[in-house]
Order: sequence, then structure tokens, then C-alpha cells
Amino acid sequence: MEQKYTNQKNDSVCGMNLEGLDDIPETVHNGNQFFFCGNFCKKRFESNPEKFQGTPLIALREVRKSFIVGNVETKVLRGLNLNIWEGDFVAIVGSSGSGKSTALNMIGLLDRPTSGSILLNGEDVSVLGDDVRAGFRSHTFGFIFQQYNLIPWLTAYENVTLPLIFSNKTADSGTLEARFHDFGLAARLAHRPFELSGGEQQRTALLRALANDPEIILGDEPTGNLDSVTGNKILEILINLNKIQKKTLIIVTHDDDIAEKADQVIIFKDGQLERNHEVQRKIYTE
Ligand SMILES: Nc1ncnc2c1ncn2[C@@H]1O[C@H](COP(=O)(O)OP(=O)(O)OP(=O)(O)O)[C@@H](O)[C@H]1O
Ligand SMILES: [Mg+2]
Repeated sequence: MEQKYTNQKNDSVCGMNLEGLDDIPETVHNGNQFFFCGNFCKKRFESNPEKFQGTPLIALREVRKSFIVGNVETKVLRGLNLNIWEGDFVAIVGSSGSGKSTALNMIGLLDRPTSGSILLNGEDVSVLGDDVRAGFRSHTFGFIFQQYNLIPWLTAYENVTLPLIFSNKTADSGTLEARFHDFGLAARLAHRPFELSGGEQQRTALLRALANDPEIILGDEPTGNLDSVTGNKILEILINLNKIQKKTLIIVTHDDDIAEKADQVIIFKDGQLERNHEVQRKIYTE
């Protein structure tokens, strides 16, 4: 059978540009050739090839981001290429200042790249107008941050209903109260953030992130401010959202135990991805 080369070295399964690199694992599936940055990606692909056909949910193509402060230009992202596939739990790790939050904000349409493209289901969302991007942001993404970012003068309940108000939706109080109950916050609806513990604030922030039933959940060190027991509870909720409700979960973390649980670990270094981002993973290693 004639082979169709649909997948190029500049568009590997994980999105990395592999042109000019040595030792590129490859495989043929249904007559198409696929390239991988390493054996981890190859084994992941081979465990479920159908998942990696078609268009990635999120794709970053040659994304660059520089910040200029005074006369100093900081090049944070230097041509980032990355694919995130629907339903994955992706952990982004890397040293402080390596650009993890910058990339996450870009993925969640909170910021725009200096150059390059960000594709959502194949559509370049980096060039869309602010209003369209705001619509995507509120319907597609749910954010949680290390500092919770709750509005201090609103109650927990009001904080959670905020995204619904912005989307002109009516809050169904019965459903919302049931959700507070599920998250162990039944008695906290009328509390303001300063009257809540860190874990309670983060669970409230999580309820707010889920208010619009987003397809993709983005967390920037969501357990970074919590003790390990409370952090593990939040993580368990997030992982259940990924495993049971099939939400795509992208978490920036410094915690190896979190990265260990992810389907894919992305390591940032010098504004690029490290090629062998399979480190710390046991399942697919030999
Ligand atoms: N708005 C901004 N203006 C100027 N410089 C910025 C801005 N945002 C980020 N930077 C710079 O970009 C670099 C990357 O920042 P970023 O917050 O993405 O790092 P990070 O990997 O998330 O680090 P950490 O693990 O400490 O949170 C840093 O050197 C930071 O100073
Ligand atoms: Mg950060």
C-alpha cells in the first residue's frame, strides 16, 4: 500500500518540531506515518492511536512571547510548538521564570502571543477580536489560580455565579446549592473569601471555574498554597473531572506527585519544551 505522509517532522504527535533532530521514533498507522519526540510519546500513541488522529484540541505553533520593561526585552517563549489532545491531563513543569504561567495564560486566551498561532480545534484564536476571545474564554475555559482570585466583597455563592452573570445565564440555585454540597461547602454559601479556609476558597474557585461547564480546565499551581492533605483533595476533584467528566485538564505545577499522575508532562526550559517530556512517568517507560 502506498504510504501517505500526513504527519511531518515539523508536526509530530506532541507538536514538537523535530526537524534536524536525530533518533526520531516513528510508526505507521492506517498507512500514515507518525513521528514522536521520544519513545514515551510513541508508546502513548500506540496504546490508543485513534485518539491522536485528526486535529488536536489545542495547538501552539511557533509561539513567541516577549515582555518589554523599560529598555529590557525578556524573551519568555521562543518558538513553542505543542499539541494537547482532547481529554488529556497535562502537567506543565519547569523552573521558576521558565514561562509556564505565560504559556497557560496564552492557551486560556488571557494574553496574546508576540508572534505565532494558537489553534483551538484547528481555528486560530490568536488573531480573533477581543469580544470573540472573551466568548471563547468564558465558555471553553475554566481557570483556577494559586491565589484563588475570588472577589473579596462577594460571598462564595456570588463568586460562583459571576461567570453565569457574564454569560447572561440564570443561575439555577438548586443545582448550584447541590454543587456546593458535593464540594463540602454546603454551610459556606454566605461566607466571604476571608471567612473561608484556603482549601474552601480553592474549592469555591473551582466551582466558579466549572460554572459554565467548560471543556478545558486550566490550573496555575492550583494546590500551591494548600497543605498536602487539602491539596490532594483539590487534586482528586480535578482528576475526577478529567477521568469521569472527560474534561481536558492542564495544570502548571512544581509538584512531582501531580506530574506523576498526568497523561503527559511538558517540561519548559529556555522558552522551549524539553524533548523527552516523558520523565518521571512510569507507565510507558520500559
Ligand atoms: N507582564 C509581564 N511583564 C514583564 N515581564 C513578565 C510579565 N509576565 C511575566 N514576565 C516575565 O516572564 C518570565 C516568565 O514568567 P512566568 O510567570 O511565565 O514564569 P513561570 O514559569 O510561571 O514561573 P513561576 O514558576 O515562578 O510561577 C519571568 O521572567 C517574568 O519576569
Ligand atoms: Mg507561574
